[in-house]
Amino acid sequence: MSKGMHLSFDFSLVLESNLKSGDGMSSAAMKAGIRRARTAAKVTEARHTAGQVGFPDLPFKLEEAKAIGRMAAALRKKYSHMLVLGIGGSALGTKAIIEGIGAGARKGMAVHVADNVDPDFFFPLLRSLPMEKTVVVAISKSGTTAETNSQLALAMDALKKVNPKGWRDQLVLITDPKTGVFRKLATDDGIAALSVPPNVGGRFSVLTPVGLLPLAAAGFSIDRLLDGAAWMEAMFRGVPGDDNPVIKAAAVYAHYMVENPKSVQLWFTYGQGLDRVAEWWQQLWGESLGKKRPGGVSVGQTPARAVGVTDQHSQVQLFQDGPADKVYTFVKWMEGREKGKVPKATFSPDMAMLGNRPLRDLFEAEFQGTIGALWDAGRPIVRLEVGERDERHLGAFLHFWMWVTAIVGDILGVDAFDQPGVEKGKKISRALMGEKGTEAVRTAFDRKSAKRMRDEIHLEERESGNDDSE
Ligand code: PA5
Repeated sequence: MSKGMHLSFDFSLVLESNLKSGDGMSSAAMKAGIRRARTAAKVTEARHTAGQVGFPDLPFKLEEAKAIGRMAAALRKKYSHMLVLGIGGSALGTKAIIEGIGAGARKGMAVHVADNVDPDFFFPLLRSLPMEKTVVVAISKSGTTAETNSQLALAMDALKKVNPKGWRDQLVLITDPKTGVFRKLATDDGIAALSVPPNVGGRFSVLTPVGLLPLAAAGFSIDRLLDGAAWMEAMFRGVPGDDNPVIKAAAVYAHYMVENPKSVQLWFTYGQGLDRVAEWWQQLWGESLGKKRPGGVSVGQTPARAVGVTDQHSQVQLFQDGPADKVYTFVKWMEGREKGKVPKATFSPDMAMLGNRPLRDLFEAEFQGTIGALWDAGRPIVRLEVGERDERHLGAFLHFWMWVTAIVGDILGVDAFDQPGVEKGKKISRALMGEKGTEAVRTAFDRKSAKRMRDEIHLEERESGNDDSE
């Protein structure tokens, strides 16, 4: 079990006694919220016991992690680069951990996560890689994601060019253990394949081979990642309601979705790499909770992000004086890495207080100052601080958010683990590309968009200097 963990969860600035704006929670609301969260958590707990929800088990799959570690070590001996193909839950967790901790902080393969099919992004990336020294890891739980399929086809072509006979050895597929085209490809072509547990959905899958293989290849300690998540699982199971950060966070965020609805939760991140963690959370929060309840009522909260200090100079004005439609989550590394000082400068006497002090003092002051300004404006604020930029802390932090999301889903009365809207979008895209048997989807979409086209304005300047033909 993990030692030396330090995470801080501060809910004091959602309390009305501290906010005094009418937008805070009374102590009675907090107590009731905690009771409700405790009761609601039983829904996910029961689904976990029944084997329908698998993410709580992931921190304890140590044998599987060892095997993945061995596979990554073997790949590292042979290849210098790994190209990860995948999107959404098949990509964002890996990016969050690599950039959260910092790719340069560990020694391993150069891992590139390609989570976009924009040709202006993907082709240059593919051309930049030394394919003979690159292993391609294609990740799709369903195997039906058009983006990942097209990337895989392109990457396979590139591999075949440099290694016509042995290209299969340079490929790993991560997919559902039974269904899906990737599984068939693995079986038919004898390509190495790892499984995503059927009871773990994309955005909850960073601690499965989806995240573990690329992270181990990049030199990150997947043991410590799992250890941190196990620590959080134990906290959640063992600590009583009032002091349980998961339950308390679920109580607070549910309050700002049910009793005092805020349409936006904004993460203001202070610390290198945390914006990628925010991106992972955005998918988790948005896709898990933005749903229609049985009966058709829509629920959810738009997850938004801002980067400190950069966005202080672009968005804080709005946050302070604009609509009171947000709950704010400030997320920060407790201590950063760099200790450098600002030299004493004579060119700016008014700024003399900066001289000979760590630049971090200014960063801290900006963090405190922004919170102070929003507090002064009566905005509800949660403050979360993560002790270290390492695997244990991020493992714990991500696991914390998975539980909070699941419980808020239980409170809202939606299934946090499905994504019917995403599936619908995927279906339309595939139909537009001409997938067999989807004529009806295509026709319905064409009819709707034909109507929309009539409202479009196109601005176009013709290049010809001679307009006589008109
Ligand atoms: O969380 C989810 O389930 C989705 O965001 C998926 O991760 C995403 O759509 C990619 O799906 P797949 O892994 O099946 O290609």
